[in-house]
Amino acid sequence: MSEAPAQNPNIAFEDKNQTGQHGFRRGINVIAVASGKGGVGKTWFSITLSHALAKAGKKVLLFDGDLGLANIDVQLGLMPKRDLNDVIRGRLGLDKVIQPFKEGGFDIIAGRSGQASLSALPSQRLTMLRDQLLEVAGDYDIVILDLGAGVDRTVRMLSASAIRTLLVTTDEPTSLTDAYAFIKLGSAAGMSKNVGVIVNQATTEAEGEKTYKTLLKACENFLRLTPPLIGMVRHDKKVKDSIRHQSPILTRSPNTEAAEDMQNIAKIVIRDLAEKKKAAAKA
Ligand SMILES: Nc1ncnc2c1ncn2[C@@H]1O[C@H](COP(=O)(O)OP(=O)(O)OP(=O)(O)O)[C@@H](O)[C@H]1O
Ligand SMILES: [Mg+2]
Repeated sequence: MSEAPAQNPNIAFEDKNQTGQHGFRRGINVIAVASGKGGVGKTWFSITLSHALAKAGKKVLLFDGDLGLANIDVQLGLMPKRDLNDVIRGRLGLDKVIQPFKEGGFDIIAGRSGQASLSALPSQRLTMLRDQLLEVAGDYDIVILDLGAGVDRTVRMLSASAIRTLLVTTDEPTSLTDAYAFIKLGSAAGMSKNVGVIVNQATTEAEGEKTYKTLLKACENFLRLTPPLIGMVRHDKKVKDSIRHQSPILTRSPNTEAAEDMQNIAKIVIRDLAEKKKAAAKA
């Protein structure tokens, strides 16, 4: 007896629309890292989270989703031989541009900085890339997407393909306002429902908490949304130091405050993902 073709078990379909079609295809192990304002620490956070998850025994893929302004390779001092440009030009499949980052024990798909054709991909290409990404994600425990700042089409598409979007903000008023705008504008794109907040560069735990509460209040009052706080990372001079030396913080300064915070967040993320997976299976 022949069976129906197996559905990719890595993909959850959500939000049936009026015609009965599913609105979103989300990778059940895909986490996006986003921010309203730029320069808040997404790339550093994505790299360090990938590293911490790998240290916890997970098989991790880090995808540079800031397509035309990529800089995971720069922060890590890598010189990728292949990158997303080869995929977009149809020269290679996405699985062929995966490169191991041995020092961190995780894999990387690099973007290419300064490639205009990558920053403004036509939607069809973007959909193809998203589909290839969800396919490749099946080979991993967790996939982290480091996105560009803001809410452009690429960010919306990639964030909507994740089961959880970690929205990074600092306590700067502009960063907070832009985080709120991200959630507001993302509602229609199916992103906001899965947003969890990361407060980065917090001066103290109490300050970080205050930052989160301010954002939460605005979301509750005006959007009727309650994005949870996933974690906080303290401001730490060793972050700049490790980036300057192009060496991951968990290798260079594993006992510093920001490294400790990231290891904690990794544990929370593993738990959060397990819960999300369970919920997706029930739906
Ligand atoms: N916890 C932290 N403590 C101290 N400095 C930090 C921390 N997190 C990030 N930074 C600083 O913020 C800078 C910007 O980080 P990063 O490039 O990761 O931000 P980004 O959000 O990815 O930026 P972009 O929006 O341009 O992609 C880093 O060079 C680092 O110096
Ligand atoms: Mg970045």
